[in-house]
Amino acid sequence: MIKICNLNFKYKNSSNILKNINLEIKEGETVAIIGKNGSGKSTLAKLISGIMKTKNGNIIIDDLDLAKKGEYKEAVKKVGIVFQNPENQIIFNNIYDELSFALKNLTKEEINNRITTSLKKVDMYDYINNDLYSLSLGQKQRIAIAEILAKSPKYLVFDEPTTMIDSTGKEQIYNIIKNLKKDGYTIIYTSNLAEEILLADRILILKNGQIVNEIKKDFLMESIDILEQNDIKLPMIVEIALKLGIKLEEYSVDELVRKIK
Ligand SMILES: Nc1ncnc2c1ncn2[C@@H]1O[C@H](COP(=O)(O)OP(=O)(O)OP(=O)(O)O)[C@@H](O)[C@H]1O
Ligand SMILES: [Mg+2]
Repeated sequence: MIKICNLNFKYKNSSNILKNINLEIKEGETVAIIGKNGSGKSTLAKLISGIMKTKNGNIIIDDLDLAKKGEYKEAVKKVGIVFQNPENQIIFNNIYDELSFALKNLTKEEINNRITTSLKKVDMYDYINNDLYSLSLGQKQRIAIAEILAKSPKYLVFDEPTTMIDSTGKEQIYNIIKNLKKDGYTIIYTSNLAEEILLADRILILKNGQIVNEIKKDFLMESIDILEQNDIKLPMIVEIALKLGIKLEEYSVDELVRKIK
């Protein structure tokens, strides 16, 4: 479980960016953090994954506190983060070099196994001999996901993973997230797209650094007003599906359109 208690954060010389965040994320849950530009999504994602630190509040990963020196190293291994722009994550041109970089202390056999398995999970195994720079942004993002999976984290944080990706690439990433969910990973993703709330079991609305609402997927129909009060307009097709009583969890917006047509 991830437990966030009284988390506050400010950058040097900034005002308060995150304000008293309290949150529990259970194992196997998929949680969406939805907020406008500047609401604090990336800041929160970086703090949960240990890339940035704060002593103002606690982030506990399976009983290990990221704020405690002796616990940080083990805690941080449990969380992998994928960024909005895969080009900020990728260093090498060769896919094998990229994925094996953080696995150096493992045996060659174990490294190969992890790389094969994680590339297959993102449907990129056929590209293993391609140059990374020749890939599309969506494919690079899938490699960035594979790189995180190869490190065997338990918790996955995706910070707006589809924002820079075209619609076909987006759909592929949705499918990967759905499969990772089925595999039992605990997933936290941020987004500013209303349609992306469909992937989550629980939706948190982040506004000016505060979680102002929490919506369970099963209560989406009853929560349309809350979403609209926060300027989150569900795509029409989702509202139609909700009214028709179609169970949303397996579908993305594109899939719903195909189904309802
Ligand atoms: N390094 C920094 N120093 C000072 N202020 C920062 C820094 N990084 C972000 N901020 C500020 O913190 C606030 C929250 O930024 P953050 O990037 O977490 O928001 P976000 O919800 O991820 O936005 P976006 O949708 O644009 O990605 C913004 O007002 C931003 O200007
Ligand atoms: Mg951001």
